[in-house]
Amino acid sequence: MATRVLNATSLARDLGRWRTDADGAPGRRRTSRPTYRALADGVRLLIHDGRIPLGAGLPSERDLSAALDLSRTTITSSYAVLREEGYLISKQGARSTVALPDMARPNGLLVQTRDAAGPVIDLSHAAMAAPTESMMSAYTSALQALPSYLSTHGMEPIGLAVLREAIARRFVERGLPTTPDQIMVTSGAQQAVRLLLGTLTSPGDRILIDHPTYPNALEAIRRVGARPVPVPIGPDDSGWDLEAIAGAARQTASKVAYMIPDFHNPTGRCLHAEGRAELARIARDTSMTLIVDETMVDLWLDAPPPPPVASFGRVSGTDIVTIGSASKSYWGGLRIGWIRANPSLISRLAGSRAAHDLGTSVMDQLAAGFLLEDADSILGARRRQLRERRAVLEAALAEHLPDWSYRRSTGGMSLWLELPTPVSSALAATAPSFGAVLAAGPRFGVEGAFERFLRLPYTREPAELAAAVAATAAAYRALAPNAATREPVLVF
Ligand SMILES: Cc1ncc(COP(=O)(O)O)c(C=O)c1O
Repeated sequence: MATRVLNATSLARDLGRWRTDADGAPGRRRTSRPTYRALADGVRLLIHDGRIPLGAGLPSERDLSAALDLSRTTITSSYAVLREEGYLISKQGARSTVALPDMARPNGLLVQTRDAAGPVIDLSHAAMAAPTESMMSAYTSALQALPSYLSTHGMEPIGLAVLREAIARRFVERGLPTTPDQIMVTSGAQQAVRLLLGTLTSPGDRILIDHPTYPNALEAIRRVGARPVPVPIGPDDSGWDLEAIAGAARQTASKVAYMIPDFHNPTGRCLHAEGRAELARIARDTSMTLIVDETMVDLWLDAPPPPPVASFGRVSGTDIVTIGSASKSYWGGLRIGWIRANPSLISRLAGSRAAHDLGTSVMDQLAAGFLLEDADSILGARRRQLRERRAVLEAALAEHLPDWSYRRSTGGMSLWLELPTPVSSALAATAPSFGAVLAAGPRFGVEGAFERFLRLPYTREPAELAAAVAATAAAYRALAPNAATREPVLVF
């Protein structure tokens, strides 16, 4: 028996624009490809992208035909295709369950198995290895500082005073007056996102988001039962569309917005100062709490970002909540993040936190404090490394995938690439066989958007980056053999 049966309406939502034709234009049906085949392709991509769990049961043919407004025969034929390819396993008298086909069987997607000798390079995370020497020295200093904490119980829901002071100082240096009682240390920015959503929203609330956005924030929004309201970030010069943000905030009465204006993940965009001021005004006029995720803020590569969005809130009288992290600036393994908010919200958050955990590790907080003391020199080296790797990634793309277009990120850790054909999930499914693990575009969006996009981080060693792009190109050629080899399209 299937452990979980997918709901037909949710599946229809996740399928998004599955009727998209070969040119990527939604709505028009391809004349050369019957509807049942297009639907099977859509379901297959969701399976490969991990968005339909293995072992789950698909909705009944009757339910799905109603949800998609298609004939039952079309659904039956679609399920038959999936069954034939090995994506559905049927047992007599039981519902069909989702599976991955035997890799050795030709199924039109897994066209080559990996040479056992070659490494598979993971480009699905935008995260760097630690700066080893600085990290070792920070933990050595932390160990020396530890004895003075051993006589306490060591559990501090808002974090050690010494670290909160160091974080507050960094905000002051960036032009935003901040006191330690406005800071709460969390176990990473992700915990900060979850805590804030849990405290500020109720199930059914609408939350404005950049689209695309950081996938784990999207998942956190879903987990609290809120509804994301996506506002597109333009791939061209437009970036954040402030009019659209204002319109969406008013029309949907969103209580909260979650945004990444500083080297946005995944696009690498940075919102200019006037845009920040306007965002703060919109938040005030619509009584919307702005959660600004500054996880990437230290990683500017071409020019420092404008002052924090919260500093514009001071002018317009809006209370803006800011999230920060040590993960990208120093190391993800530290698991240190923070929230800057007014002290009364900090106390509410500390109360909610107790249901999940009782504080962040003292050693890690002490180490983070020492890293922050040395921030300028560590970050300078980090930026140099990222600039070099961004250039390596760009060169590899120009060599192997000249028809993929992108706008150069001015900071952060990744490029957001537009593919000539909407095959991102299929590419992510096949690429491991060629030597690269990728995060497909739809991970960064809602309702199946961004099938034409792919995020490539420039965080790995140069040689690994070059090899991973060559592997990605080989996988792409296998999927889209007629892809044109036009000149690269670069928008600065
Ligand atoms: C925008 C953004 N927010 C939050 C996080 C999570 O950060 P942390 O490792 O501090 O939990 C990430 C990590 O990739 C991120 O890119």
